Amino acid sequence: MIRLDKALSSMGIGSRNDVKNMLRDNRVKVNGEIIRNPATKIAEDADITIDDMPFVYEKFTYLMMNKPKGVISATEGYEPTVIDLVDMPVKGLFPCGRLDKDTTGLLLLTNDGQLAHRLLSPKHHVDKEYEVVVAKAVTEEDIAKIKAGIHDGEDQFMPAEYKKLTETSGRIILHEGKFHEIKRIFLALGNEVVSLKRIRMKNLVLDESLAEGMYRSLTEEEIKELQDLL
Ligand code: URA
Repeated sequence: MIRLDKALSSMGIGSRNDVKNMLRDNRVKVNGEIIRNPATKIAEDADITIDDMPFVYEKFTYLMMNKPKGVISATEGYEPTVIDLVDMPVKGLFPCGRLDKDTTGLLLLTNDGQLAHRLLSPKHHVDKEYEVVVAKAVTEEDIAKIKAGIHDGEDQFMPAEYKKLTETSGRIILHEGKFHEIKRIFLALGNEVVSLKRIRMKNLVLDESLAEGMYRSLTEEEIKELQDLL
């Protein structure tokens, strides 16, 4: 059970005060009955309408974003953040993991701390796949080193997979997520990353119909798969 005003305001309908006004104006029905008291406890699967339009309460929000360049993977800062791109005022939304400011592609935004914690935990070795373009040709020797696990003088990186697309581009799959990992792997090989785009995280594949800067809710199936796979 959850308080009606909390359920509505957590879904971005407005502040608790806005919700109070909506209730006072007889705009909200729960299971067909007008409710005016914001403290009314309702079941999480109650049938809610606002102005007779169905309203689906969901405990958590899960958004897939195609992150553009130039925004940081944080909730606040001096620079524009991925959260600034979301025009649904969902409470407590944060990026699950980090992409560099100049990296594009798949970023999960959620307010489900438990799922994020499990996805980011080093214990789980969640696969992350990227398309990478580098300055110089990647040799077979480079690929063998990536597969064996590179040491960049500071950190030992876990073995990763690399699939060549062209001489200077490929797909790399990491099983961990160290700071600037791909850039550091290529620097250790005497190369340099020119562009980087994440295309997959575990089962979650970037929806290519999302333009950079756009996002959509995960489907029930995507959420379930993410939860089941951990
Ligand atoms: N590795 C990087 O170097 N940058 C990213 O944004 C992600 C992985």
